[in-house]
Amino acid sequence: MTTAAPDMEARLQQYVADVEGYLATCLDDFSMPPRLKQSMLYSLLAGGKRLRPVLCMNCALLCGGTAAMVLPFAAAIEMVHTYSLIHDDLPVMDNDDLRRGKPANHKAFDEATAVLAGDALLTDAFVIMCRTPVASDRLLSALSRFALAAGSSGMAGGQEWDMIYTGQPATSLQELQCMHAMKTGALIRASCVCGAMLAGADERALRAIDSYGTALGAAFQITDDILDVVADTASLGKPSGSDVANGKNTYPVLLGLEKSRELVCEQSEAAKAALMDFPAQKADFLLALVDYLNNRAK
Ligand code: IPE
Ligand code: IPE
Ligand code: MG
Ligand code: MG
Ligand code: MG
Repeated sequence: MTTAAPDMEARLQQYVADVEGYLATCLDDFSMPPRLKQSMLYSLLAGGKRLRPVLCMNCALLCGGTAAMVLPFAAAIEMVHTYSLIHDDLPVMDNDDLRRGKPANHKAFDEATAVLAGDALLTDAFVIMCRTPVASDRLLSALSRFALAAGSSGMAGGQEWDMIYTGQPATSLQELQCMHAMKTGALIRASCVCGAMLAGADERALRAIDSYGTALGAAFQITDDILDVVADTASLGKPSGSDVANGKNTYPVLLGLEKSRELVCEQSEAAKAALMDFPAQKADFLLALVDYLNNRAK
């Protein structure tokens, strides 16, 4: 079922503008070598969908908070995501030269600077998160939840599975699901859950939002795998066909495009169903976002 929210795209643009406004100045009071700062800002301000901060802000809103009160946390999630992209493109990982329509960080700078820009974005993100104006017990819970999602049992661990499976014969569906849930799902899910936690959501709301984030994250990475096959480099802003060239285990490789698309629909319906207990009017943006992401061109 498609969910309509008439002003969804205008609202999305406003959230993205708020995040980008915050990101543009968030490193101003850090003292660092100018080249490192240039490299960090180069990738951070290169565009991107800003999905994770938008999720964080909207899950906070859904649970009675405001987007403004979680903005530092949300923007810092984007810093962690950007670090993951810089490292993901390195020659020792996916060896991709284009990201967000521009030369990858290690091409615009050099590999050492790209590694360090990633390290610094990850670490500085936690300084920024600590500036979130909410009660310290809520902040501590969200920090701990987010760190778990970014680390070895989440995104970083999933990236290691991705590398282990690269060039190997097809993995099982279960292994693929687990890798996706870690490398991409964990951060998307935590973006949702942390937004809700910072707004003081109760257990029931947290569980629902966790299910939404889990299903949305799964649909998101399957679509990313599909786009790698069907979209061109110019629209993607990153090299099309990179997964096949690298011998990656993806949904289209394992199941074919048609079955992959079916799974996107299944996960999308699961994401929407998870928000069933919230008033439809309050959840309309998050519901419409599911379809918006399925139809994305990059
Ligand atoms: C790309 O993430 C990496 C994946 C986890 C699939 P996005 O598709 O959110 O990339 P940007 O932030 O819009 O560039
Ligand atoms: C990367 O997955 C997930 C990350 C944690 C960065 P991909 O390797 O498929 O992401 P893209 O396609 O390069 O953006
Ligand atoms: Mg990768
Ligand atoms: Mg990649
Ligand atoms: Mg990909």
